[in-house]
Amino acid sequence: RTDGTTDYYEIVQRTARLNILPGLRTEAWTYGGSFPGPTIASRSGRRTVVHHRNELPQPVVVHLHGGHTPTASDGYPLDTILPAAGFAAGDSSSSMPGMPDMPGMEGMVGDTRLGQRTYTYPMNQRAATLWYHDHRMGRTGLGVWRGLAGFHLVHDDAEDALPLPRGQRDIPLMIADRSFTADGSFRYPAASAGGVTDAYMNGVLGDVILVNGAPWPVLRTDPARYRLRLLNASNARRYRLELDPQPPGGSALVQIGSDGGLLDRPVAHDAVELAPAERFDVVVDFGRYRPGTRVRLVNRLGSGSTVEVMRFDVTGSGRGDDSAVPDRLGNDAGTGALDPARAVATRTFLFRQQRDGTWTINGEPYRPGHPLVSPKLGTVEVWRFITDFHHPVHVHLDPFRVVSRNDRAPGPYDAGWKDTVDVQPAEAVEVVTRFTDYPGRYLLHCHNLEHEDMAMMADFTVG
Ligand code: C2O
Ligand code: CU
Ligand code: CU
Repeated sequence: RTDGTTDYYEIVQRTARLNILPGLRTEAWTYGGSFPGPTIASRSGRRTVVHHRNELPQPVVVHLHGGHTPTASDGYPLDTILPAAGFAAGDSSSSMPGMPDMPGMEGMVGDTRLGQRTYTYPMNQRAATLWYHDHRMGRTGLGVWRGLAGFHLVHDDAEDALPLPRGQRDIPLMIADRSFTADGSFRYPAASAGGVTDAYMNGVLGDVILVNGAPWPVLRTDPARYRLRLLNASNARRYRLELDPQPPGGSALVQIGSDGGLLDRPVAHDAVELAPAERFDVVVDFGRYRPGTRVRLVNRLGSGSTVEVMRFDVTGSGRGDDSAVPDRLGNDAGTGALDPARAVATRTFLFRQQRDGTWTINGEPYRPGHPLVSPKLGTVEVWRFITDFHHPVHVHLDPFRVVSRNDRAPGPYDAGWKDTVDVQPAEAVEVVTRFTDYPGRYLLHCHNLEHEDMAMMADFTVG
């Protein structure tokens, strides 16, 4: 539904039995019965209102990842939508090890008034590939693994004016690994009552790669340019994606955008690396292949069944290609204002696992309501992330730009506006940021969802 100022969406969160593996049914937690959930499409500057009704047997929280969103609709882990029909027998509301339990949840019964919530997104932001997913306290990994993730695309006039591939040749690809039991159910390791379980140490990894919910799919393509909006929606797996074979001359993946929308200029890559939650918007010209070529999208960080991601079968026909990748993608307003030399504060965030097993930021496991830092609205800050392990660090509310890695230039995958940055073991990554428009409480966390659930998260308040 839509009116003069607003686009409305209704989503019912419910269990659904999906056909993911041949001949088997997988019981999933879904947005509207599908995995991924329905793709929401917004216009920059036009409000989008999404009404969620929770018919799942457990509480949920909806977060718009990459959304420039007032705090009331940001999806704070305690702002739950309780189950409309009450908790299922045997469902536990307890959190992962190391995470405080949700207050007041025990013994709660369903209440249809509480079983729904309306999220309001002003969409006061540029065109970008966003996604929405569960953000329930201490249980985000399980919720997303079971299917609570979907795309939310933002379009704007500046991007529409560019001759980029569109329509059937603009394809969001949600890449996520999963494991299954023999009967087709999602296999997610149970949290043990006490202590941190080994299964969560590196995050939960699957051995089947799903693209838009299908294992190793095949797409028949015209010999033409395609825009592929790559999203790594995996709980913990990192990918190095490459086309095999490469077209003559290489540089098959022409990156045009990143988490926060279009780059200033395109960057050609042979391969791209995606940590959890990162988006890479790339244009691939299948016209560079001979018709009949089967082009595999492969993951060079995988082994065995996690190498193959999907396949493109290049056909010899299809209507012509009038698309192009311009030299200047432009549309990058505000970059100048983010000069790190103008930073009023430099803050350091240490992502560490303590010797007692707790996952912490600056020595603290997540404590809701205790902001770690309180930046001022509208001021430029430099944030320095220092890690022990691999941690994809994510910040809510506003995107940032990567300034340096270990005091050297940013890496090949750091271009553009980012909301998640892959920090390698024992690395220091500096980003420059500025929070705008919406004062209030937001989150900073590791987007390895098991690390997040084990409390590697912090509040910050913008004032
Ligand atoms: Cu995609 Cu706070 O998360
Ligand atoms: Cu987010
Ligand atoms: Cu982590």
